[in-house]
Parts: sequence; C-alpha cells; structure tokens
Amino acid sequence: MRDLIQPHVNSLSPYVPGKPIEETERELGIQVSAKLASNENCLGASPKAHEAVMKMASQVHLYPDASSFFLKQTISEFHDAHNIDENQIIIGNGTNEILTLLNRSLLSEGDSACFPWPSFIVYRLAARGHGCKTVEIPYDVSKGFDFDALSKTIANEPSIKLVTLANPNNPTGTSFGRQELEKFASILPKDTVLIIDEAYREYIEDEDYPDAIALMQSRPRTVVTRTFSKAYGLAGLRIGYALCDPEIAHGVNRLREPFNANVLGQVAARASLKDADHRARAYDYNQAMRRKYLEGFRERGFRVPQSAANFVMIKGWADSQRETLNAKAMYESLLRKGVITRPLGGYDLHDALRISVGTPHESNALWNAVDQFLKDEGDQ
Ligand SMILES: Cc1ncc(COP(=O)(O)O)c(C=O)c1O
Repeated sequence: MRDLIQPHVNSLSPYVPGKPIEETERELGIQVSAKLASNENCLGASPKAHEAVMKMASQVHLYPDASSFFLKQTISEFHDAHNIDENQIIIGNGTNEILTLLNRSLLSEGDSACFPWPSFIVYRLAARGHGCKTVEIPYDVSKGFDFDALSKTIANEPSIKLVTLANPNNPTGTSFGRQELEKFASILPKDTVLIIDEAYREYIEDEDYPDAIALMQSRPRTVVTRTFSKAYGLAGLRIGYALCDPEIAHGVNRLREPFNANVLGQVAARASLKDADHRARAYDYNQAMRRKYLEGFRERGFRVPQSAANFVMIKGWADSQRETLNAKAMYESLLRKGVITRPLGGYDLHDALRISVGTPHESNALWNAVDQFLKDEGDQ
C-alpha cells in the first residue's frame, strides 16, 4: 500500500505548543504565576478592542465579511503616509496563515525558501509543508543576521525564490537597520520575493529601523507582514495582515479560505488600530521593562543580546570560562516555581531561553525563580 501521509509532511517536526496552564498546574502540582513563553502583550488588548468584541458577540452566528472590507479600509487609513491601496492588503488568520499561503502561492516544485537560522519556525514549516526545500543561513545569534553570507548563498543557489527576514527576529530579539536592508535588497535578484516579517514592529525605538513599506512600494516583489498578536494583544483572535503588490495579493486570495479572518478578530483589529493611546502605553511599558530584563539578566551573569522586541533571549553566561548553561534545567527549575519560559532546543540553541516581558507581578515571580535557580546552581 502506498504511504498515507505524504513524505514531505511526514518529515516535518510539528510545532510544539505549550500545555494549557491548568494542565501544567495539575501535572506538576504548582501554581503558575507568570506565563512568559509566547511574547503576548502582558498588558492585554485595548479596552476599545474589548468593547468591539462584546458588541459583536451577538453576531457570531453570521459568517464574517470574506473580504474584510472595513478592516482593509482601516489598515489603509492607518498607513496613509505610504498610500496603501486596499488591493495591496492580505488579511490572514494570524501572520502564520499568510506566511503559509505566500509559500504555497509563490513556490513551485524544486524551488527553495531561504531565511537565517535560527528564526521563526513557521518559515521552515511553511516551505517544507508545501514540499519545497529550505536554505537556512546560520549566523552569530548575539550579533544578528549575516547579510554577506545570505547574499552569497542566494547568488549561488538559483532555486531560492523566496527570502524571509524577521525584523526584529524571533527568538533572538535582534534587529537590522536601514542600510543593511537597502544594500541587501539592491543585491537580491529582482525576481526573488523578499518577505519582511515585522511582528514586533510596534516595539521599535531605533530611528535607524528600515521603512520596509517604502521598499515594498518601490520593489514590487517585497511583502511586509504585521500582526495583531503582539503589541495589539489579540493573539487569541488570530489576525494579521500583509502589504504587497496587488499581483501577489490576488495570487494569495485565490488560495485563501474565504472566511479565514473571523468576525471578532476583524472588529477588534480595527478598534486596536484606532487606539493610539493603548499602543503608546504598551510601547512605554515594554521599553522600561525590557531594559530591566536586559540589565537584570546581565547583572546576574547571563549573556543577553540586545533586544528590540517584547522578549529577551538569554544565551549562556557572559563569562566564557564558565560551564555551559543547561537551559533545560533552568527552564524546569523556573517552571517548578510557577514561571513558564521558552526553551530553545527546537531552534538548536540548547544553552538559551526566551523570556517575554511580563507584568510587574510576573516579573517579581521571574526574578525570585531565577535567583533561586542561581542559588541552587551555586550550592551544587
Ligand atoms: C517573527 C514572528 N512572526 C510571526 C509570528 C506569528 O504571529 P501570528 O500570531 O500573527 O500568527 C510570530 C509569533 O510568535 C513571530 O515571532
């Protein structure tokens, strides 16, 4: 009998989600005091988004607007400085879905997708799940992407039809600047599609952050993705968007399931875009707390690359003479204290943990748990 599941699907390592908090608590006999594993906005969504959701609750028996007409209108207004036409917008069930649809609509058999590694795991799943190869370019995670290595590989590998860059990157938190992107885009073959994933864009304070939307307007084979899951606090409603050339948007629309963006996600996303105050609060809080996380971990001896997002990655010890950090042991020790972080073994980083910025209460729990781990380490 022939195989039931296609070989390229069988060879995928599935995304490993965290267990529900209640189940973790039951299994380990603990009480979770901080969930710092998925880079959600610890302040929650805009009160205006809550209001919009409550108002729409009576309409959930109806199918959503398949064209996301009003949401596209709001997105276009939000980006009025870039003069975005509504036919340049793709709405997705999270950026995740958009990335999958882009891979499916842009890559044929024998084509490859390229991205730096480690980066967001969905880039790998989206290409390999469609039966395509991936070309993954390693880089020094403390420093950020190696654009020279990327350019060289792309020049020598004609099968590469799609390049995806996260800015800032997950799981490292590192970001790249205007000049690096401009130089890279000028070298990239014109028919190669470049996706710039700006999931954490709202947290950027660096003035040198590139204007990827302007690049998209001048280089049509460029796609910029944004999400409502992070700074907008709508991860549970699964909604994101991409800005691109109408030809790409039409291609994706042919594949897209008509009702992919749900009723509540559409109204909450619109309300969030209109709430500049909540966005500013989320930004201010994150910058202040992220600084404390960077300083706090560095003071305790960890090596922590600069982060531009709402999380930090600790990777080993600053003192290179010290024994390798056992990140799995640290993860488990924090978990026993009720603090959930993200171990990065799935990204091939066995001495690293990713930790999202939390509320003041969650942060206290984090530092208590980290100090206890360090004390236990010292006692051994
Ligand atoms: C770089 C990056 N892109 C995209 C996403 C996914 O966002 P969404 O929730 O919109 O699917 C994430 C989520 O962790 C991310 O880190």
